[in-house]
Parts: sequence; C-alpha cells; structure tokens
Amino acid sequence: MAYRIGVLEGDGVGPEVISWGVSILEAAVRRGGIELEFVKASVGGTTFLETGKVLPDESLQTLRGCQAILKGPMGRPDIEAGVVERDGILALRQHFGQYVNLRPVKLFRGLEAASPLKDELLKRGVDFVIVRENSEGLYSRMGGITETSATDINLFSERGVRRILEFAFQLAQKRSNHLVSVDKANVLSASLFWRRKFEAMAEAHPQVKCSSQLVDSFCLLVLQDPSPRKWDVVVTDNMFGDIIADEAAAIVGSLGMSPSANINPGGISMVEPVHGSAPDIAGKGVVNPLATILSCALLLRHCLERDDLAGDVEHAVQRALDEGLRTPDIAAGGPTCTTDELAAAVLRHL
Ligand code: IPM
Ligand code: MN
Repeated sequence: MAYRIGVLEGDGVGPEVISWGVSILEAAVRRGGIELEFVKASVGGTTFLETGKVLPDESLQTLRGCQAILKGPMGRPDIEAGVVERDGILALRQHFGQYVNLRPVKLFRGLEAASPLKDELLKRGVDFVIVRENSEGLYSRMGGITETSATDINLFSERGVRRILEFAFQLAQKRSNHLVSVDKANVLSASLFWRRKFEAMAEAHPQVKCSSQLVDSFCLLVLQDPSPRKWDVVVTDNMFGDIIADEAAAIVGSLGMSPSANINPGGISMVEPVHGSAPDIAGKGVVNPLATILSCALLLRHCLERDDLAGDVEHAVQRALDEGLRTPDIAAGGPTCTTDELAAAVLRHL
C-alpha cells in the first residue's frame, strides 16, 4: 500500500519540526507494510511574500492529489496579523472540509513538573480528547469591520452541528462512553441550538454518559480536577475549542506537547502541531518537536487507519522522555536538550 502525503513546512520553526515529522513517519512505516511518498507544497507567510498568495492554486492542486497532509505552523511577524491565519490555515481546513479538529490532551509520564498544576492534581493522570468543531461558528469568516462597528457571525447549521456531535459520540463509544459538551447556552443562541441537538443525541445514545458544561465553568473545573474520572471526550464549538485547547496544553506541560488533526472523514485530513510559528526561537534549535511528532501519530491513526503504528510513535515519545530529554519549554528549570537531540531519541526508540 502506498500513500502520498502532502508536506507544508510552514514558517518560523515550521521547517525544523516538519523535517523531523517526515523522518519519524518514514521510520514508523518501515516495518508496517506501507509506503509513503512525500510531496512538498508551498503555503503560508513566506509563500505570500514570494508569490503574493498565502495559498496558491498550484499548492491546492498538489494537495488534492494526496491522502493526507502534514502541516507546519504558519505566520510571520512581518505580515499583517490575520492574513496567514484566515487565508492559509482556516482556508485549508475549509477547503478540504475538515470539520473535525481533534486535540488530544495527554500528560506524558515525567512531565508533571512542567505543568503549573500541583502534583496532587496530576496523580491520576490527564488523558482526554477535545473534539473541536472546525468549519462553522465564529471562525466561518462571515462578518466585517468598519470604522464604527464590527461583526462576526456565529453561524451553526443543523448539518454542521449534527456531524460534529456524531463524530464525538462515536469517539466516546470507542473510549470510555463519557462525553461532555461545552457551550455558552445561557447567553448565545448558537450555543442553545447546539445544546438542544446535543441533548437530543444523548437521548438516542443511552449507553453514553453525557453532560453539558458552560465554557467558563469548564475552564475552572478542568484546573480543579483534570483527571480521567472527570473528562474523556469533550466536544465543543470552534472558538471555545480553540481556547480550551491552549488551556489544556498548559495543564500537560506545554503547547509543545499538543498535537492536532483536522479531519474530514472520507476526505483529505491534515495534522499539525497546535503551537504557532514561534519566530522568536526559529532557527535556534530549541523548539519542541514532540507536538509535530505526536501529530504524525495522529496521521497514522486517523488518516491511514494504523493505530498500531501510531502507538509505536507514542511509545517512542514516552521512551525518549524517560531518558530525561527536555527541550526548554518542558524542562521546568532542569537541564535542557535541543530539538535534534529529543527528536533523534524518538527516532532511535522507533
Ligand atoms: C489553532 C490556531 C488557529 C485557530 C489560528 C492561527 C487560525 O490558533 O490552530 O489553534 O484558531 O484555529
Ligand atoms: Mn489556537
């Protein structure tokens, strides 16, 4: 079996982490009976400066011929904020119909000191998944700005809500049958709409333990107890998912430990680290490569249906951390290593 994987290096620290992602994928499939062909395409801030377009048609054409995409972080400080985000990142997700944004939140053994939470709160572990709606809500890019006012339309469609909830219910049934929906139904009509659909679907799935949580309250409760007895699958809308994913990343030590997958079930999906292009540390060899490496595990699991190979990568990450290797973001004041040292250790354990 051969698959073509589109590779977007991105900006800033992007090329440093993505080249390791490619090496890890190559090593992971070596004994897995599949072959990968990597095809580069150009998208992002540097592409914009070179071509005048963040997402050139030619790049889209290349990506359409791929089975999955590995995307680096994008954005440059010398380009007006929002241009690369809207015309690159959000445009890619929307173009490929990737309506699910899966963000696993897992505390790796040994990283307790990198978390701002007390050890006491971490002793049961942290292992939940955020299912973020990825195509509608406040990120649907409808609205506008004038000198005197601005609007963003928080649009949710029946179809859009149904499909993300269905995905979350299916995932909950593969995990521990425990699903929490996060909304702001006491204020927003879009959230009320969402909650009604969620409650109707909960009735149709009596085997899944379901509850709804207001987003402000969720942010508080997850800090008071982030353990698996409280959270397993958390489904929420586009903006709330964006925000709680960063809060959750802090709980597990760093944005540098947070992978994500933008999924179009049956279409072309795209994995990417949750962190940005971090221009302040670009080229210094200190960026944490694990968010990208763990994103590659998601590519194996969710795009190529190879749970076994994804597990191999995740184990190799744990083994590298067990050696004590820590990039500065997860070092908690202890000794640090470089991007290459940490990534090479993962590769060795594969
Ligand atoms: C993320 C980022 C993006 C988002 C931005 C850069 C468009 O913050 O992936 O979380 O909001 O989804
Ligand atoms: Mn974000």
